[in-house]
Amino acid sequence: MNRSNFNRAVKTGIAAWVAAVFAVIMMVPAASAQDVDFGYRIYKDKAECWACHGWAADGLKDDPRSPPGPSLRETAWDEESLTEVIMCGRPGALMPYHDKFAYTDTRCYGIVMTDLPVNQRPPMAIQTLQKREVAALVAYLMATVVMAGEVTLEECVNYWGEGAQACQRLGAGG
Ligand code: HEC
Repeated sequence: MNRSNFNRAVKTGIAAWVAAVFAVIMMVPAASAQDVDFGYRIYKDKAECWACHGWAADGLKDDPRSPPGPSLRETAWDEESLTEVIMCGRPGALMPYHDKFAYTDTRCYGIVMTDLPVNQRPPMAIQTLQKREVAALVAYLMATVVMAGEVTLEECVNYWGEGAQACQRLGAGG
């Protein structure tokens, strides 16, 4: 093998290796199944997202006393922006913040609470969440509701379990 053939072989080898590594990286799911499952439990049991956004995050709130939250199914959210809204809430709106220390320093939108006029201050969530809980919740939302389209019967049964009353409007028997 002369020198230039050798160089070419090395380059091809490197290219194949890079392609292989890249393929492996692409196969690793963004979030593990455990994260998604943990996130489901946060959504359902610990956080109260469903009260305002609905169990399917479709904007049909599940608690009549709660303010309506918009559907989370129709926006192409990414992890980072979802995390920010959940951690920091929305100034000027009724979306609560879930980071216990939000607005005590400038971690949220670069402001502290007293920077906001009283009527613009977002409420604190009834249950604040740890970082890893928010990460799991975001994994769950990304996997199940973001850009998910119409709510399906399958989704309902996954959420509520087989034979749930809540799924009858979607065509479940019983
Ligand atoms: C007390 C009711 C309430 C609760 C509880 C609540 N939200 Fe919200 N949420 C709202 C409202 C109201 C808005 C709209 C804010 C606005 O007008 O900008 C909102 C906005 C959002 C947005 C931005 C939507 C958009 O299209 O701009 C996301 C994402 C979101 N909420 C996720 C969550 C998650 C996840 C939880 C649970 C951890 C949660 N919310 C809990 C009321 C609530």
